[in-house]
Formats: sequence, C-alpha cells, structure tokens
Amino acid sequence: MEWWVLLHVATAFWFVAGLAGRDVSVTRAAHAPDIASVQALTGAAGVFDRFFVIPGSIAVLIAGLIAMVATDLSLGDQTWLLVALILFLAIIPLVPLVFLPRGKVFEAALADAVAAGDVTPGLRAAFADRAVLGARWYERIVVGVIIVLMVTKPF
Ligand code: HEM
Repeated sequence: MEWWVLLHVATAFWFVAGLAGRDVSVTRAAHAPDIASVQALTGAAGVFDRFFVIPGSIAVLIAGLIAMVATDLSLGDQTWLLVALILFLAIIPLVPLVFLPRGKVFEAALADAVAAGDVTPGLRAAFADRAVLGARWYERIVVGVIIVLMVTKPF
C-alpha cells in the first residue's frame, strides 16, 4: 500500500519541479534585456506549465486521494489531510479568475512586442501584473503549507 504513497510523492515532485521551473523562467524573462531572450524564456515557462504544472497538479490530487484510500486514512479522522485538500482545491479558482484572462493579455502584449522587435512598455506592464504576481505567491505559500502538513501531520 506504501507504493501508492510513493507514486503520490513522485507526482508531487513532478508538480513542484514544474512550479519552480516555471517561476524561475518567468522571473528571468521579466528581467531579460531583449525580446529574443524574453521569447526563449517564456517558451520554457510554457513547457513547464503544459508538461509539469497542469498534468502534475491533476496527478498529485488523484494519486493523493488513492494513497488516502490505500492507507486507510479518512478526511474525517485526519484533519491535516482535510485542510491540505481544501487548500489544494482553493488554488483551482485562480485558473479561471486570474491565470487564463491575464494570460491572454500577456500573450497579446508579447505578440505586439515581438512584432515591434523590442521589449515594449506594454510587455513590461504585463510582466508586472499584480494579480498574477499575487496569485503566484498565493500558490507558492499554499504548496509550502501543504508540504508541511503532509510531512508533519500535526492534527
Ligand atoms: C501540493 C500538493 C501535495 C504535495 C506536494 C504532497 C506531498 C506529499 C508528501 C511529500 C508526502 C509524504 C509525507 C510523509 O510520508 O512523510 C505525502 C503523503 C500523503 N499525501 Fe500528499 N501532497 C500533496 C497533496 C495531497 C492531496 C491533495 C492529497 C489528498 C487528499 C494528499 C494525500 C496524501 C496522503 C494520503 C499521504 C500519505 C500519508 C501517510 O502515509 O500517512 N496529498 N504527500
């Protein structure tokens, strides 16, 4: 039954590696001096999103629920698990509320900058979007808290 926990932990690494890779790529892109570097780094961020963060987030949830059943844990008895699940699900609304609409604005600003051949003020403004920066911090903090809950199981 521990194999299910191992699978879940492997998916957690996959997901968290994607978050780290995406955030590092986006941060470097935001400070890149030329449009070619911005394109290369945002391209890398897109790969982390599509192949790590999005599938990894689904896999970590499914494997976590399977690990829960396999190890005879229940949300009623293990408050840490219930809190972790609620925190995890609380990230999902950020996708339709922030990441998708702001992502479209960013894509348009990037396309304009590529056409202009330079890092435009519009693209700098899109990188500095407070809603996106805030949502990314929220995501990092929640994932950090979930990892602490998973390992310490405090209540
Ligand atoms: C960001 C998301 C998550 C990460 C990074 C994560 C990470 C981990 C890690 C590292 C462990 C091993 C802890 C240990 O045995 O010391 C673990 C265990 C576990 N996780 Fe998660 N997890 C996440 C989300 C979830 C979710 C959403 C569920 C489902 C409710 C879940 C259910 C479990 C269960 C049942 C165990 C086994 C606990 C035990 O062996 O007593 N996890 N998780």
